[in-house]
Amino acid sequence: MISSNMQKRLNDHLNREFYSSYLYLAMAQYCETINFSGFATWMRVQSQEEQGHAAKFMQYMDDQGATVELQAIAAPPVQFRGPLGVFEETLAHEQQITAQINDLYSAAVTEKDYATQIFLQWFITEQVEEEKSVRDTVEVLKMSGEHIIVMDHRLGKRGS
Ligand code: FEO
Repeated sequence: MISSNMQKRLNDHLNREFYSSYLYLAMAQYCETINFSGFATWMRVQSQEEQGHAAKFMQYMDDQGATVELQAIAAPPVQFRGPLGVFEETLAHEQQITAQINDLYSAAVTEKDYATQIFLQWFITEQVEEEKSVRDTVEVLKMSGEHIIVMDHRLGKRGS
């Protein structure tokens, strides 16, 4: 059993995971429109992963006999600032999610809610991995320079 305060916090976070999925889907769509299908694929997979995170929260709340409340998901942006902008925004978003997971963990510690602390440990580890993967991509994009990637992509489409 979890407290009503924890139930509310977990429901609010569930919404953030769904928003993350929606945001990355919007980024995938944007990448398709600027003809970066590789980045679009990456973002679609990321979007699916966020659905998986949301499912973990729902399962945990269900296991604890808590009420899952599906809140409205905010509309993500349509336009981004190129591939580098997409990944920079992803990094900023993941850093925000990390801070929110940490806040959840702090609340679980304050409440002496040991089960929720253990549940959140998977997410704490996952956030380190997610931030690293996105940060690495940002660094590679900065080193490569977007113009080189654009040229590479265009020239790669030449048939003869
Ligand atoms: Fe579910 Fe990317 O954090």
